[in-house]
Amino acid sequence: MPNPYQPIKTSLQDVIAETGNIKSFVLAPDEPLAFEAGQFVELTVPGLGEAPFTPSSSPAEAERLTVTVMRAGRVTTALHGLEPGAVLGLRGPYGNTYPLERFAGRDVLILGGGVGLAPLRSLLLALLLRRGDFGRIILCYGARTPTDLVYRGQLTEWASMEGLELHLTVDKSEDGWAGKVGVVTETLDDVELDPAGAVSVVCGPPIMMKFGVAALLKVGFGSEAVYLSMERNMSCGFGKCGHCRVGPYYVCRDGPVFTFEQLRGISGIW
Ligand SMILES: Cc1cc2nc3c(=O)[nH]c(=O)nc-3n(C[C@H](O)[C@H](O)[C@H](O)COP(=O)(O)OP(=O)(O)OC[C@H]3O[C@@H](n4cnc5c(N)ncnc54)[C@H](O)[C@@H]3O)c2cc1C
Ligand code: FES
Repeated sequence: MPNPYQPIKTSLQDVIAETGNIKSFVLAPDEPLAFEAGQFVELTVPGLGEAPFTPSSSPAEAERLTVTVMRAGRVTTALHGLEPGAVLGLRGPYGNTYPLERFAGRDVLILGGGVGLAPLRSLLLALLLRRGDFGRIILCYGARTPTDLVYRGQLTEWASMEGLELHLTVDKSEDGWAGKVGVVTETLDDVELDPAGAVSVVCGPPIMMKFGVAALLKVGFGSEAVYLSMERNMSCGFGKCGHCRVGPYYVCRDGPVFTFEQLRGISGIW
């Protein structure tokens, strides 16, 4: 029987510095690794360990996938020190996906903070591939400062893209920033939509998710129409070890995508 922990060899093709502590890593696995938006992979730095990341690239590209990583501790610091040509391990994909069939025909409001735009970029690229299936697509994204915004080149492209409404904000301005200043939930004041015909998707640091969900419920979204991408410390990634337990769920197997309806009432989710 094949070893489920055995990673596929993958070479690091490119490293893109997004901000002072976030880099994107373009990976070329030895075998194509097909995933769908929302799923995650375990990336191994040989000799050091592995960590879970959600690809930030389009699910349509199985030969080359990108993960966008914030430096946090051992594995992520080692990753940040790597140069193109390094050899890594990759296993997965694991977990569930954003249920695009349930999004069909509805407006999709995406609310992201900081590095939380990584899984949301993969979702957005998947939605844009099937643009005609959805109503309005609205991206509200915030970071601490303008230099903390990830994918800056792509944000400029998205700002003028037909069929996508982009609302950017930063907590604190810097020289040259002419955009909005304020926390990301304040961008919801600039969006007029009927929550009855919409779904929303949130990803970001825990505090942002907490206030983001509260703001979405306040503007009228039902808790079953608010989707979250949850993060927990993980080990196996496929429902065996119990490390990622949240209430009755294993985040790796039952998530990482949950509706707020599934999670409300569970203590310590943020
Ligand atoms: C499904 C999933 C998808 C993820 N996607 C991304 C992504 O796209 N980009 C990204 O930058 N990060 C992502 N993460 C978080 C990432 O896995 C952690 O930052 C990473 O595991 C830290 O490893 P480390 O060895 O560098 O840090 P460690 O040395 O293990 O820890 C450093 C610090 O980070 C905390 N930490 C470790 N793991 C997590 C975690 N999972 N959640 C919250 N805090 C943690 C530790 O408690 C400690 O305080 C994701 C996590 C999950 C579960
Ligand atoms: S990481 Fe092992 S059960 Fe979820």
